[in-house]
Amino acid sequence: MTSIWEPLYGRASRSLKPSPIREMLHLTRRPGVISFAGGMPDPAAFPVDAFREAANRILEEQGRDILQYGTTEGYPPLKAFLSDWTAPRMGRKLAEDELLITAGSTQVVDLLSWATIDPGDFVICEEATFLGSTGTMRNHGASFITVPCDGDGMKVEMLPALLEEAKAKGRKVKYIYTIPNFHNPLGCTMSLQRRRQLVQIARDWGIPILEDDPYGYIRFDGDHLPSLFSLDGSGIVIYAGSFSKILAPGTRVGWAGGDREIIRKMAVFKQAVDVCTSVVAQAEVYKYCELGFLDAFLPKIVDHYRKKRDDFETAMRRFLPLEEVSWVKPQGGYFYWLETRRISARALFDRAIGKKVAFVLGEPFFPNGGGEQAFRMCFTFASPEQTEEGMKRLGEAMQESLNP
Ligand SMILES: Cc1ncc(COP(=O)(O)O)c(C=O)c1O
Repeated sequence: MTSIWEPLYGRASRSLKPSPIREMLHLTRRPGVISFAGGMPDPAAFPVDAFREAANRILEEQGRDILQYGTTEGYPPLKAFLSDWTAPRMGRKLAEDELLITAGSTQVVDLLSWATIDPGDFVICEEATFLGSTGTMRNHGASFITVPCDGDGMKVEMLPALLEEAKAKGRKVKYIYTIPNFHNPLGCTMSLQRRRQLVQIARDWGIPILEDDPYGYIRFDGDHLPSLFSLDGSGIVIYAGSFSKILAPGTRVGWAGGDREIIRKMAVFKQAVDVCTSVVAQAEVYKYCELGFLDAFLPKIVDHYRKKRDDFETAMRRFLPLEEVSWVKPQGGYFYWLETRRISARALFDRAIGKKVAFVLGEPFFPNGGGEQAFRMCFTFASPEQTEEGMKRLGEAMQESLNP
C-alpha cells in the first residue's frame, strides 16, 4: 500500500535522519548490555530526595501560579537566580531581558537557528561535534563548515582562511557553534588563548558564536577558564546553559544568555514553538536551587564523576591494547574519545555488541564525513563493576578485531 504521507512531506522531512544515538539506544538497552553509549548522568547520583522536597515546597507555596501558563521568557524567580548564579562565569549579572529559559539547551540551538538559518546557510563547528545540535541545525536546512581540533579545542587559527573561502564561494555563515568545555564527543577544552582569538575573529567578521556549555561546571582538574561570553562584551556571543548535567536531564530546563535583541527574537519564535517551558519544571528547579541544593550537590557530583573518570582510565589502561588506541584524558565532563590505529570502529561496534558492551561510533559526530576510526565512550553512566566488566569485553573485542 502506498503511503498517504510520502507525497506530502516537505523539504525538511525528505532529508530527515533519525539520531544515530537515539536509534542505537534501543540496542544498548537490551538486557545484559553494558552501555558506555548515551551521554547520561549516573542515575545513582540524582538528588531525588532534595528534588522531592523542593517540588513539594513550591507546589505548597505557589501551586496555583505554577500550574498556570507562564511567560515565554521564563519563570522570573529562576531567571533572577540564574542571573546571580551564573555571574562569575558570564563576567557579570545578566539582565532579565538577556536571559531566556528554554526546554534544555537543545532548544537554544533550535531557536537561534529559527532566527538565523535559511536553507543552504552554513554553520561553522568543530570537525567532530555534538550530533544532537547538528541534527537540530539540519532541520533548518543548515550545512556545515568544520574546523579540526586538538587537545586545546578548535584550531581557531584556521578560521580566517575558512571564512575567506566561504565568502569566495558565496556561502553565508550564520554562526559559529562551539563546545569550549569538556567537548562532546572529543573531551577536549579550548585553551584561553584560542578563546580570545575566537572572540576576536567573530567580532572582526561579525559572525556570532553559540557557546554551548552544558558540561562547564563539571570540572575535575585545574581552574575554570573564562567563558567566551565573558571575553566578549560586544554581544557577539550567545551562551547556552543547561540543568541536564548538573541536576537532571528529565527536568528539560536550560537557558540562553545573550544580547537582548537576539534573545527577544528567539523568545518570539518560542511563543509559537511551545508557548513556554514547563512552569512546573522551572519552578521545581528554581526551588531546588533556592534552597541551596544545587550548590550543595554540585561539588559532590564533580567528586563522584572524577572518581568515575579515574576508574574508567584505569580500566582502559588495564584492558585495552594501548599501542592500538589513543585518547586525551578529559579534565571534566562526561566523555572519552578514542582513536584507533588500525581497527574500524564499525566492525568493533558489531563485535562489542555481540559481547554486550556498547559505545557510540565516531562517524555520526562528523557532519561532513570522517571518524571511521574513532568512537565515544561516556564514563558517567555505568557502575564501577560494569565499567570493569565492560572494558574487559571491549578489550577482547579489540583483540579479536586485530586477529580475526
Ligand atoms: C554539547 C551538548 N549540548 C547540548 C546537549 C543537550 O542538552 P539539553 O539536555 O540541555 O538539551 C548535550 C547533551 O548531551 C550536549 O552534549
